[in-house]
Amino acid sequence: MDGNGRWAKKRGLPRKFGHREGAKAFKKIADHCMKLGIPYATFYAFSTENQKRPKDEVEALLRLFDEYLDDIREMDAKNVRLKFIGDLSFFPDSTHKKMLEAEEATGNNTGFTCSLALNYGGRDEILHAVKRLVTEGCNLSALNEESFAEYLYTKGLPDVDLIIRTAGERRLSNFLIWQAAYAEYVYTDTLFPDFGKRELDKALAEFGERNRRFGGV
Ligand code: IPE
Ligand code: MG
Repeated sequence: MDGNGRWAKKRGLPRKFGHREGAKAFKKIADHCMKLGIPYATFYAFSTENQKRPKDEVEALLRLFDEYLDDIREMDAKNVRLKFIGDLSFFPDSTHKKMLEAEEATGNNTGFTCSLALNYGGRDEILHAVKRLVTEGCNLSALNEESFAEYLYTKGLPDVDLIIRTAGERRLSNFLIWQAAYAEYVYTDTLFPDFGKRELDKALAEFGERNRRFGGV
C-alpha cells in the first residue's frame, strides 16, 4: 500500500493524513476483493523497516491500526476472516491483544481471508521460522518446502499469485519473499489512497493475460 506519504505531500498535508486516506482505500479494496470472490488478499501495511521512520509517523500509524481494530465487528459481520502476519510483539500490549482477539473472533468465517502484514519482513519471517525449527528440534530428513511453510507467519495461506505494487515502485521490499517465488507482478503509478475498484479490476485483467509456467514449458 505505497504512496500515502506522497499523496499527502501533493496536498501540502502531513504524511499521517495520507495514511488515513490509505486506510480508507484499504477498506474499499478489501470489500471489492470480497465481492469479486477473491479468497485471499494480504495487505502490506507496515514493514519491519518502517520502524526506522520518524517517531511521530510511527506513532500515528500505530494509532491508526489500533482504531481500525475497533472496527472489527464490521468485518466479522461480512464473514471476513482476519489474519495478522509479522512480528506482532512490536505493538503495544493492548493493540497486540486486539489483533489476537480479532483473529480468534473471525477465525471460523469463510467469506474472505484478509491478511494484514504488520511489522512484517520476509527475512524476519524466515529467520523466525528457522529459530523455531531449531528450538523445537526439527527432524531434518522430514523437512521439505511444504513443512517449512508451516513455520511461517502465513501458515495456512496459499502461495501468492499476484502482487500489485502501487506508487510507481518496482521493488520487492521484503514482502512475502518465500511465498511469492512464482508470483506475477503488476505495477501502477497510482498512489495507494487513489487506488480504487477500477484499478483493481485492471490489475486482475492484466494478471489474467499472463501465461504462468512455474518454471515449466
Ligand atoms: C505506504 O506509504 C504506507 C506505509 C509504509 C505505512 P508510504 O508512507 O511509504 O508513502 P510514500 O512512499 O512516502 O509516498
Ligand atoms: Mg513508500
